[in-house]
Formats: sequence, structure tokens, C-alpha cells
Amino acid sequence: MAKKLIGPFTQLLPLANMPLHGALADNTLEIIEKGGIIIEHNRIVDMGPYSILREKYGSTVAFADIDTPAVCVPGYIDCHTHIAFSGNRANDFALRNAGATYLEIAEAGGGIWSTVQHTRETSEEKLAAHIIERVDTLIKQGITTVEIKSGYGLSIEQEVKTLHAIQLAQKEVLVDLVPTCLAAHMKPRDFDGDATTYLEKMVAELFPILRQENLTNRIDAFVEKSAFNAIEIRPYLRSAKEQGFDITVHADQFTPSGSVIAIEFGAISADHLEASTEDEIHLLAKSDTVAVALPGASLGLGCSYTPARRLLDEGAILAIATDWNPGSAPMGQLMVQASILATAEKLSNAEVFSAITFRAARALNLSDRGQLKRGQLADFNIYTTSNYQNITYMQGTLLPQQVWKSGKLIYT
Ligand code: NIG
Ligand code: FE
Repeated sequence: MAKKLIGPFTQLLPLANMPLHGALADNTLEIIEKGGIIIEHNRIVDMGPYSILREKYGSTVAFADIDTPAVCVPGYIDCHTHIAFSGNRANDFALRNAGATYLEIAEAGGGIWSTVQHTRETSEEKLAAHIIERVDTLIKQGITTVEIKSGYGLSIEQEVKTLHAIQLAQKEVLVDLVPTCLAAHMKPRDFDGDATTYLEKMVAELFPILRQENLTNRIDAFVEKSAFNAIEIRPYLRSAKEQGFDITVHADQFTPSGSVIAIEFGAISADHLEASTEDEIHLLAKSDTVAVALPGASLGLGCSYTPARRLLDEGAILAIATDWNPGSAPMGQLMVQASILATAEKLSNAEVFSAITFRAARALNLSDRGQLKRGQLADFNIYTTSNYQNITYMQGTLLPQQVWKSGKLIYT
């Protein structure tokens, strides 16, 4: 029997029919009590009250009975990670806590560059093994789609190796990995030439390989003092856009400026935004560029949070992601971070769940996930609890009992 009826759930939260932009009060959350889902292969074909589904589909379905209490929500989407790395930056963490800043450590040769050196020494297979291990950690949290950036290779060969490692990892994991090329993470210290020459080389030599080998359709750039400035990055992003890549930008992390460029190039998302001022907030709010908050970086660096409340109140699309990386955000715990951001920024449950489901899907230009409705991928999490509010209340310590990806139970 190809169709399956899953349930009954004490509460089923479809997160469907909700606006992409702006603030959301909790009374906008649809809650189906005693709900069920009908899946066929990898998709949702129907959903609603369990008793009605049972009557409607009767003997044509197999049953996957769920012990109650149970709450069902869409699978989470971590739309910004850097988990293709080797090594550890615990010393950077200690140095920062002793008073050094992220930018000072980067200028002294630590920071991203130290991770580049470790990652370059790692074979493709070993790097894939690191990715798989980290993805497994994310799956246990209910994350069914994971974006992964390159950016610790910073040469043609090493960036390609990293993107190959992500492809290799994809063969071994049951969730979807979305690769992004972040060759514009910083100008590598061993590159003989200026930033513009480095970026031109990437356009001329790396972009064709990305296409030929189908490595990614996404180009990211870090616009910041320690990385690339507006003058350097514009031609790079222009080429990426002309070649049809989706663009995303590390913007306004320490100083404002990147989000203006992100909007100028119609970026899918502008991520970080801890240093965004009212000007950037207004621009983002008026645009369709998703504003991605990365509370893990604020926690890792001891910096301010992305002004998520202001962004939502002005009408922006807000997503939340882990930014999992060895430097600024070593934690890699999405619900922990999203719930902490909620307390700091006063976010409703509706805003938190939207930010890690359908709004995060938008940041990856994916329209087939993030909501529980007919036609969407059957990606969902089931918690042993009677009320969805317990999930953020427990600040990430309440973990899903079951994780389903594309119609398969992948973790229990
Ligand atoms: O998103 N901001 C730039 N990139 C990463 C940090 C990378 C690193 O420190 O290794 C970030 O925080
Ligand atoms: Fe990042």
C-alpha cells in the first residue's frame, strides 16, 4: 500500500497559508487537534482531522500509529551553515573571552585563515566524513534540509574539493544538503595578487566548474572589513548574477553595508545583520531578500543579536539559522539558538517556527518544503508532548521523538 496515514497527533501545526513577510501573532497559527497526515512516497497528499482521514481513506492506507501525546510540525531547515571544515578554534574563543575581537584575531592570522589551513590538509573523503557526522547531529534536532557553504578552501582546487565532499556526503545522508560556493569568504593569505584579482580568477576559472559539475547554483560573499568591500565585491556578484546563480550575502555582521549590496543584486538572502541600522532594516523590509538571523554567531562572539523584532515589525521576511562554523558559531543547535533569540528579541512562537521552516525554505529558493500541506515533501517532526509551546519553552532541550524526511522515518 503506497499511502500511509500517520497520527493521531494531539496537535498538528501545518504552518500553511501564512504570510511570508512580517510579524506573526500566535493566534495566526493554525492548530489541528487530533490531526493526521496522509503521505504517498515522498509527499503529503492530504491532512486534517484523523477521524475524517480514516473514514475517507479507510482500507486503502497503511497505518503508522503514533503514541500520544504527540505534536507534529514541519521539518526544520538550517539555511546557513559552514560545516565543511576541519580543526577547531577553541583558542580563538579563549582569546576573544580574554578581550581580543573577532576582527583582531582574523588580522593576526587566526580566524577563518587558520580553519582554511586545516581544511586544505584534509582529504575529500575525510571532509565528507566530518560533514556526515555534523549532519547527523542536525538530524537529531529535526533538521531535514541543511545548507552547507564551502569557503575554507579558497583556491580553485580546494573549493572544488569541498563541494565534492558535500556531494559525497549527500550520498550517505537521508536529508537534503544544499551546497553554496563561498569562495568569497576572504582573500587567501597565500594568493599572489589583490582581492579583485582573486575574485576575477574565481569567476573565470571556478564558476565554469560549478556549472559543468553541477556543484552548486548558489554564490555567497562575505562583505566586511576583514573580507571584501563593496568595490571589490560588486563585479563578482554582477558576474554571478549574469550567469544565473542565486546570490546570498554575509551582510552587516560587524559594520553596516553588505545588506545594501545584497538588495542591489536581488540576493535571495542577507545573513547576519547584527550591525544593521534603521536604514538597512527599512531596505530589507521593503525587499524580498530574506533576512537571516544567526543567533549562534551572537552567542559565540558575545555580540548583539540581529534586530529580528524590528525587521519583522517593518515587514521583512525573517529566517533563523545556526551559522555552524568553528569560529564564530561552534554550537550548531538550531532550536536552542532560535528560542534564545526569541527571549532576547521578543519573538512569538509563530515567528520562530516560521523562521526555521517555510521562511528558511525561501532563503534557499525552495518552494516544496517548510509547510505541511498537499504536494509538499513529507518532512516533519513528532514530539512527545501535548502542546507545541513546550518546544520553544524547553529552549531546544526537548528533542523530536521521530524525524520523517521525504516520507521516510529517518530518526527515532
Ligand atoms: O558566518 N562571517 C563570516 N563567516 C562565518 C565565520 C567563519 C569563521 O569564523 O570561520 C560566519 O560567522
Ligand atoms: Fe556564516
